[in-house]
Amino acid sequence: MEYFTFENGVKIPKLGFGVFQINDLKQTEETVEKAINKGYRLFDTAAAYGNESAVGLAINKSSIPREDFFITTKLWIQDYSYENAKKAIDNTLQKMQLEYLDLYLLHQPYGDVFGAWRALEEAHKNGKIRAIGVSNFEPFQLENLSLFNDIKPMVNQIEINPWEQNKKTVAYNQENGILSEAWAPFAEGKNNLFSNKSLQEIADVHSKNVGQVVLRWLLQRDIIVIPKTIHENRMIENINVFDFELTDSEMAQISDLDLKQSQFFDHQDPKAVQRLYNLPYSSVR
Ligand SMILES: NC(=O)c1ccc[n+]([C@@H]2O[C@H](COP(=O)([O-])OP(=O)(O)OC[C@H]3O[C@@H](n4cnc5c(N)ncnc54)[C@H](OP(=O)(O)O)[C@@H]3O)[C@@H](O)[C@H]2O)c1
Repeated sequence: MEYFTFENGVKIPKLGFGVFQINDLKQTEETVEKAINKGYRLFDTAAAYGNESAVGLAINKSSIPREDFFITTKLWIQDYSYENAKKAIDNTLQKMQLEYLDLYLLHQPYGDVFGAWRALEEAHKNGKIRAIGVSNFEPFQLENLSLFNDIKPMVNQIEINPWEQNKKTVAYNQENGILSEAWAPFAEGKNNLFSNKSLQEIADVHSKNVGQVVLRWLLQRDIIVIPKTIHENRMIENINVFDFELTDSEMAQISDLDLKQSQFFDHQDPKAVQRLYNLPYSSVR
């Protein structure tokens, strides 16, 4: 596995495994166990996914030492405030049966972001969280958070795939020492990603498949990837992306596929803010 290193010396694998939309706890536990056996060490969950406990169970049952894992989870907006975020962090550690988290993110840029961030800073300073970051933040929101707080985000996890390349935010992250992490690297297969002709042509040249080309393209842009799959053959394929390199012209060809449009929803749409605000989830209320 290859790693990036944060300014504080903590190392993060460049490739990990996401567990969004694996809703059944037994299935989550078994899927994480299979992924561990295939060599995955970074696992990305969230309080809002409802499966933190199953991820923790699989990690704790494994014979692999805790320090070899990199566990990421996220705070949901209903728990944004200094006091509630402190409680939510403790609830998550309890739920996952872990003594510390490797990375903890503010899941969305809404609500009492500053209050929640101060709780993350505090948990980081007292050793409960090794690295802190955010998700779905625009450059102006990152700048605002960084300027008015002690610690700037170490990661910004955003949608990045061939259809929504998010070039402006990735460039801002890079210029400001914030690692970009791609969610939905395959756009969950939307817009026929896995049968796209241009991507397939590049895949054929390297005797790889489309998914592997997409992950490689992200890694060559210095972006962390966390693909999700419940299938063991795909787990093997998705981690097998460190033995080939895309040429500059192949990188440019994929760059040209950018539709500059989220395949899910626009985080700046007021209706999206309302919808997320109304989700019933909270770990502390
Ligand atoms: N921060 C955020 O707001 C946010 C939002 C969304 C996601 N995330 C994180 O990012 C992770 C990844 O994103 P995602 O799960 O939404 O989407 P994704 O990784 O782009 O796509 C997952 C889909 O692709 C399929 N797939 C995976 N590997 C494949 C392969 N090699 N060939 C063909 N199909 C394949 C999977 O099906 P099978 O499972 O059936 O194989 C699944 O339907 C999530 O699990 C989560 O941890 C974060």
